Amino acid sequence: MAGGHKQGEAGKRLVVLKGQAACAGVVWLVGAGPGDPDLLTVKALRLLRGADVVVHDRLTPRAILDLARPGARMIDVGKRKSRHTLPQEGINQLLVALGREGLNVVRLKGGDPFMFGRGGEELEALRAGGIEAHVVPGVTAALAAAADIGAPLTHRGLAQAVTFVTGHAASGGEPNLDWVALAKANQTVAIYMGLSSAPVIAARLIAAGRAASTPVAVVENASLPDERRLTTTLGALPEAVRALDGPALLIVGEVAALAQVDRPPEIAGLDDQSFAGVSS
Ligand SMILES: C[S@@+](CC[C@H](N)C(=O)[O-])C[C@H]1O[C@@H](n2cnc3c(N)ncnc32)[C@H](O)[C@@H]1O
Repeated sequence: MAGGHKQGEAGKRLVVLKGQAACAGVVWLVGAGPGDPDLLTVKALRLLRGADVVVHDRLTPRAILDLARPGARMIDVGKRKSRHTLPQEGINQLLVALGREGLNVVRLKGGDPFMFGRGGEELEALRAGGIEAHVVPGVTAALAAAADIGAPLTHRGLAQAVTFVTGHAASGGEPNLDWVALAKANQTVAIYMGLSSAPVIAARLIAAGRAASTPVAVVENASLPDERRLTTTLGALPEAVRALDGPALLIVGEVAALAQVDRPPEIAGLDDQSFAGVSS
């Protein structure tokens, strides 16, 4: 390759291509975790503190956005169910355009960018646009939910596998899932975006052979102050989740019987001073 990298001013990389030099931006697809700022990775925090621009979704908590460099440009591309503020294609083009401006861009994505987050599409668009891009993993909602209720997703003797699925159904239909595979015993099914299709999910799993008495744990707004938790069974799931309307994770399987829904919230181990020692 007739080019190379060296460090330019303000941390930007000077890309040298065939004798010409130009400042190239870098786009970081960064997992923001489930909401609690304490669950950000140190790398995510460092990048936020150095970013020229932060592109984020509607649900990104203020407490996380406030960790960005003062003066950083904040762009909300927040999506609402069935009503995208900016369509995915528009977000892809925006990221490419910001990269071409030579900016350090942090694209903050809830949980992990590659877990039902369309991070793959954004990465493809950036690659196709010739923009340097990197991915920083984040704590995905299923892991945060399981930790909060103390129900391990795998557990000796109860679950030898865990499957992450989406309950989101394209164009209002049914989720396109392999119900027979998911109904097999000794595994946990962690379901994202499963609230509105809970009746179909429960009916299909039971029809495929999973017992109606199978334990289910549900965690809404995991890691956040307004977190809600409940336990139920597969048969009673549709009724049990009727009152929930926030982002929620369904954990289906024997491990859900270990959930402690009345567990006290975790005592915060970090305060603002703890972050002060982490420099960008
Ligand atoms: C579009 S998906 C994005 C998932 C995200 N990339 C992740 O790794 O967690 C959104 C869904 O994730 C789940 N989710 C995200 N944050 C959550 C939270 N704090 N508590 C419970 N579920 C959450 C919900 O099922 C929500 O509908």
